[in-house]
Amino acid sequence: MAKSGKPHHIQYEAEAACTNLLILLKILLDYGRLLIRRSYRQLNWQVQTVGNITHFHFAFMPIVAFFSDTSWGGVDLRTSIMPRVVTRNHKVILIAGGAGFVGSNLCRRLIDEGHEIICVDNFQTGNRCNIAPFLQHRHFRLIQHDICDPLDISGPVDEIYNMACAASPDRYQEGPVHTCKTCFLGALNLLELARRKKARILQSSTSEVYGDPEISLQDESYRGCVNTCGPRACYDEGKRVAETLFWEYGAHNGVETRIARIFNTYGPNMDPADGRVVSNFIVQALKGEDLTVYGTACKPALSAT
Ligand SMILES: NC(=O)c1ccc[n+]([C@@H]2O[C@H](COP(=O)([O-])OP(=O)(O)OC[C@H]3O[C@@H](n4cnc5c(N)ncnc54)[C@H](O)[C@@H]3O)[C@@H](O)[C@H]2O)c1
Repeated sequence: MAKSGKPHHIQYEAEAACTNLLILLKILLDYGRLLIRRSYRQLNWQVQTVGNITHFHFAFMPIVAFFSDTSWGGVDLRTSIMPRVVTRNHKVILIAGGAGFVGSNLCRRLIDEGHEIICVDNFQTGNRCNIAPFLQHRHFRLIQHDICDPLDISGPVDEIYNMACAASPDRYQEGPVHTCKTCFLGALNLLELARRKKARILQSSTSEVYGDPEISLQDESYRGCVNTCGPRACYDEGKRVAETLFWEYGAHNGVETRIARIFNTYGPNMDPADGRVVSNFIVQALKGEDLTVYGTACKPALSAT
């Protein structure tokens, strides 16, 4: 008999069982730790935290959840606390102004390429019809939001395209101060988001940064003939300061930035009432009307947006 009063063989069996259990527990802990370390390195994680659950829990939650098929305090451990491992071979791309003309075409292109789209738009000039084909798509999310206000996005964002700004002079001149804010604060808010998410970001700029140019065609070395005042300045100068913000964030804040100076563009999803020359020609031609040519029609147009 052992000191505990139990027969020796029962004590040995109990000790052996305890040892086996400890070894099993150690293996599971090591495996769990290994799994988590490897997952952090190799996979993209989406972690849903509940209440004040902290990082520490991740070390043992896989094991708890492994044994548990029940809930804990009304919370399903596996769906709510457990890190959700998402392996993805596509990018998560935020398109501000995604319901507009250029933005919606970009949404289509990137969805077709298999990427996940977060469309952010305040519908100032955007049209829900432009994005209607994607609304039910599992890779498309619409957030109605004005980029003049800061925005936070849950989960990863790999790339950001800033297409948000009315491009039609008639529309951006309706609210010139809002146009200035969209160009400056909107760009700033998106750059901050890009910095936080470590996302690459593109600014849709314009040939209007050259102002009323004295040369044609303009290349990037041309500094422009610009005007801080006047009806178009809210757009032109807004786009110029947005370019400066992008340049600064790229040079000093570690954000990977791109700037695309778009010249007059037209195509599907454009507002027929946009008011610019090419769309006016097309609409008038479709209606069988005379084409309106402004001015004396003698001087070639240098830039049109
Ligand atoms: N279309 C062109 O010819 C042209 C030329 C040069 C530059 N661009 C630039 O390309 C971008 C897209 O132009 P577009 O022709 O598609 O214009 P658009 O007016 O069709 O689209 C702009 C989109 O941005 C949204 N938007 C505007 N302000 C916003 C804000 N504060 N917050 C959130 N959403 C906002 C609008 O609702 C709309 O959906 C613009 O930045 C424009 O300056 C366009």
